[in-house]
Amino acid sequence: MIKKAVIPAAGIGTRFLPATKAQPKEMLPIIDTPTIQYVVQEAVDSGIEDILIISGKGKRAIEDHFDRNFELEYMLENKNNGGVLNEIRRISDMANIHFIRQKEMKGLGDAIYHARLHTGDEPFAVLLGDTVIDSIIPVTQQLADIYNQYQQSILGVEVVPQEKVNRYGIVGGNNISDRIMEISNLVEKPTVKQAPSNLAIAGRYILTPEIYKALEQTKPGKNNELQLTDALKILLKRENIYSYTIEGKRYDIGSKIDYLKTIVEFGLKRKEFSKEFRAFLKERLSSKN
Ligand code: UTP
Repeated sequence: MIKKAVIPAAGIGTRFLPATKAQPKEMLPIIDTPTIQYVVQEAVDSGIEDILIISGKGKRAIEDHFDRNFELEYMLENKNNGGVLNEIRRISDMANIHFIRQKEMKGLGDAIYHARLHTGDEPFAVLLGDTVIDSIIPVTQQLADIYNQYQQSILGVEVVPQEKVNRYGIVGGNNISDRIMEISNLVEKPTVKQAPSNLAIAGRYILTPEIYKALEQTKPGKNNELQLTDALKILLKRENIYSYTIEGKRYDIGSKIDYLKTIVEFGLKRKEFSKEFRAFLKERLSSKN
């Protein structure tokens, strides 16, 4: 059973500057809901009871978002704004959320290493704080179900177009079933020629505690950062790792264009204004300027 989740959210967010100069990328709203709230919701919907958010410089807003705000609650109560009040209270009650600070942003691998005392000798889920996955069954639940079968680390992957493999960590190996692969090879941002497949790691993982030993032996890689993919390569020498092709649509808000696409897609799905928004987009696209 997977009961703990780690959400790395300490990254600098250089691709989204200047918006991320004084506010966390993970708090960028998808319409009215911060990205990381969707991520926490996915963990909760997957049966996770305990969440550790890896926080860092300039990330206080994340802590405040999941904390009670009595002044705001009092004001909403006086205004008789019950619906919003309930939602505001619900956010601070979503899960048992803890925070730890990554003092220097030394990469995703280093961020996860900060969770070792918290997760101890239990397997745990990792959900990147800047990646939302829209699905019927929450993706962390999908991966936890596969973990229960294999009791080994499971990487959530998705098919990406061949020309985009150079943006992701790509896995290769032997297919066990339609969606499950026993991994024999992992390459970070390969060229099209080097890529062992077109299955890209999608920001969701179940990791065994052995990952911490692997991280201790990992040398800083690209940008002098501790790369999780490099640690997974070390782990692969000791344990089996499986990939699972997730059922769902991934939205990575870390780049400006992907953020824009995410907002449009979520806007089109929002019942209260989807009709008006669709008509606006249609009109906008058919006009010449
Ligand atoms: P990214 O690879 O998108 O890095 O991190 P980044 O620093 O946030 O963004 P850019 O590349 O500079 O624009 C993926 C996830 O891992 C976290 C980020 O907060 C994000 O949720 N992360 C990354 C950390 O927690 N610590 C790190 O040192 C790096």
